[in-house]
Amino acid sequence: MLLFVVLVVAAAVRSSAGRPSSSSSQPHNYLEENESQEVRSEAIRRLLEVFGMDDPPSTRGHKQAPQYMLDLYNTVADVDGVTKDPYLLEGNTVRSFFDKLRSENVEYRFNLSNVARTEKVLTAELHLFKLRPQSSVTFNKHHFCQVNVYQVLDITKNSTQDRKLLSSRLIPIHSSGWEVFTITQAVRLWMADEGSNQGLQVVVKTLGGSQVDHRMVRFASGRSHHQSKQPMLVVFTDDGRRSAALEGKDPNDTPLLPQLPMAGPPLPSRSARSLDYGEEEPAAASCRRLPLYVDFEEIGWSGWIVSPRGYNAYHCKGSCPFPLGQNMRPSNHATVQSIINALKLTRGIETPCCVPDKLFSINLLYFDDDENVVLKQYDDMVAGSCGCH
Ligand SMILES: *[C@@H]1O[C@H](CO)[C@@H](O)[C@H](O)[C@H]1NC(C)=O
Ligand SMILES: *[C@@H]1O[C@H](CO)[C@@H](O)[C@H](O)[C@H]1NC(C)=O
Ligand SMILES: *[C@@H]1O[C@H](CO)[C@@H](O)[C@H](O)[C@H]1NC(C)=O
Repeated sequence: MLLFVVLVVAAAVRSSAGRPSSSSSQPHNYLEENESQEVRSEAIRRLLEVFGMDDPPSTRGHKQAPQYMLDLYNTVADVDGVTKDPYLLEGNTVRSFFDKLRSENVEYRFNLSNVARTEKVLTAELHLFKLRPQSSVTFNKHHFCQVNVYQVLDITKNSTQDRKLLSSRLIPIHSSGWEVFTITQAVRLWMADEGSNQGLQVVVKTLGGSQVDHRMVRFASGRSHHQSKQPMLVVFTDDGRRSAALEGKDPNDTPLLPQLPMAGPPLPSRSARSLDYGEEEPAAASCRRLPLYVDFEEIGWSGWIVSPRGYNAYHCKGSCPFPLGQNMRPSNHATVQSIINALKLTRGIETPCCVPDKLFSINLLYFDDDENVVLKQYDDMVAGSCGCH
C-alpha cells in the first residue's frame, strides 16, 4: 500500500515535471494546469503521510547535523538509505535536541514539543562534551570525579530538595570527549506533563564529596563552544508504525538482502524514467524487478532531508504466464490460478500478478520544524524481490 502511494507520487511528480515542455508547444490550458497542480499537491500530501508528517518541515538555513546522528544513520543504513539490519535500532525513531538554555552553569533545557504524544520513549540520553582541564590546573591529586545529573523539580527554588538524581558516573578528570548519561525517566515524565520540564542540572564533585574547581572539569556549552560540541539530548522512540511483517519474527532470522546491486550511484532519473514510461517492454518479458528511483530533490524535499538524496524503491513488472517456474516465486494460489487460466476452465480468470513479495525499510535523516535532527525508519518502502501472486 505504501509502495503504491510512492509509485503514484513518483508518476505524478514526473508527469507534472514534464508538463512545461509539452505546454510550450500548445496553447496554455489553465484548467489542465490547475488539475495537474492539484494532483501534484495531493500526491505530495499523500507522500508526506507515508513519511508520517502533515506538513513538510520548514527549510530555513540549516545548521550542520550532529556527527552523532550522521554516524548513527551510517550505521543503520546503506548509501541508498536501505536498512542494513532491521534489529539494529531499538524502536524506529531517534531524535536529537539542542540545549535551549545555552547557559555557562552546566544547566540544560530541551524543548520536546515536537515529539508526538503517541511516541513511546524507549531511551533518552544526555550527551555532554567534556573539555580538557585548563592547563594551569592540570596537576591535581584526584584522578576521577563524580558527575551527577539532576532533574530540576522547581526552578524557582535553589536547594538540593528541589532536584532529583537521574544519573551518576565516575569520569577521569583528564579525559576529554563525549560523556553519555541515561535520563529516560525524566524524559518520560516531561512527555506526560510538559510543565514538569524544568531542565537539568549537572553537579561535579570529588570522590570525597567536595566541590571540584570548575576549571578542572568543564563541559562544552551551547554558548561558547563549537557547534559540534553542543550539549545534546538524544531520544529513542517508537511511533508504533512498525509493519506487521517485523513483529513476532525471530530476530536471528535476518531477511535476505536485496538481490540486485544496491550500491553505486543511483540511476540518472532520465534512464529510470525511460525504463518506467518509455518503450513498452516486450509482452513476453516475465515478472522481474526493475529500478524506480524516488528522487527527493525532484519532489522538492532536498531542503530538509539530510540523507539520502533519494532511494531506489524498485518496481515489479512483467507477465506471469503458465507454467510458473520456481524463479517466479509463485504461491500455491498463484500456481492454481495460472493453471485455471491456462485451461480456461472458468471465464474471466487472469494470470497472477507480478508484485513485490519482499519489502525492505528505508531510513531518513531530516531536520524537523524546530531544527532538531531526526532519524526515522519507514517499513515496506523498497521492493526486495518480485514474484507472481
Ligand atoms: C486556476 O486556479 C486559479 C487559482 O489557483 C484560479 O484563479 C483560476 O480561475 C483557475 N483557472 C481555471 C481555468 O480553473
Ligand atoms: C517549544 O517549542 C515550541 C515550538 O517549536 C514553542 O511553541 C514552545 O513555546 C516552546 N516551549 C518552550 C518552553 O520554550
Ligand atoms: C544556586 O545556588 C548555588 C550555590 O548554592 C549558586 O552557585 C547558584 O548560582 C544558584 N543558582 C541560581 C539559579 O540561583
